[in-house]
Amino acid sequence: MVEVRRFADLDALSRAAADDFIALGKAAIAARGVFHVLLSGGSTPKRLFSLLADRGPTALAWDKVELWWGDERSVAPTDADSNYRMTREALIEPLQLDERRVHRIAGELEPTKAAADYQRALVAALGQPPVSDLALQGMGPDGHTASLFPHSPALDDTTHWVVANPVDSPVAKGKTTRITLTARAINATRAVRFLVAGGDKAPALHAVLEGPRDGKAFPAQLIDNATWLVDEAAASKLGTTR
Ligand code: 6PG
Repeated sequence: MVEVRRFADLDALSRAAADDFIALGKAAIAARGVFHVLLSGGSTPKRLFSLLADRGPTALAWDKVELWWGDERSVAPTDADSNYRMTREALIEPLQLDERRVHRIAGELEPTKAAADYQRALVAALGQPPVSDLALQGMGPDGHTASLFPHSPALDDTTHWVVANPVDSPVAKGKTTRITLTARAINATRAVRFLVAGGDKAPALHAVLEGPRDGKAFPAQLIDNATWLVDEAAASKLGTTR
């Protein structure tokens, strides 16, 4: 079941995503005493993270929130491209979250080792399959999500939860290896929220939501039962035939 919620712009989308994040967090903490969330990287979630920080430490029982990532670049945590660094600056430091509950992917390590280490940590905390409470997903203009890029090896992986995925894409700034959860790992999550904004995403969003199923070309199609929070620019081709 796919739900699409449309918003005027990124700010409105992010405000709704912040409300949703807090509601899901409160429900998870009430039910199980903890809220495990898989964060996405890139730029779209920055506004959401800043809004959560602005709401302050009492908006959610942050001492019961465990932060994980759906993917990471093969860079150090201090690198400008690090998903962890973006989150640290926008959310972790402003709320002074306890680093013991922040589980970053060690992008500074050799990618296969980083992926194996992360899979061990995820399974140790969440079991097999690793069931988290919320996965925040972004989507690139090529239809990738996390670091599941079109036609990349990770798309065929049915035995791991976390892999090193060699990609060669202009969207990924050329040839690199990313560390990413596999689609089956993301699909083990209790709730999935895509946050997609910007007109550059409109063709891919149309293809993913309304086009023929082709998970290799549009990996975001591999993620099931998601709620999509999209702005009008990204949604501008929905309901069209082209
Ligand atoms: C990453 C993300 C990736 C991102 C999309 C969209 O590591 O880059 O996890 O999947 O969500 O590329 O990125 P933007 O939000 O910057 O458009």
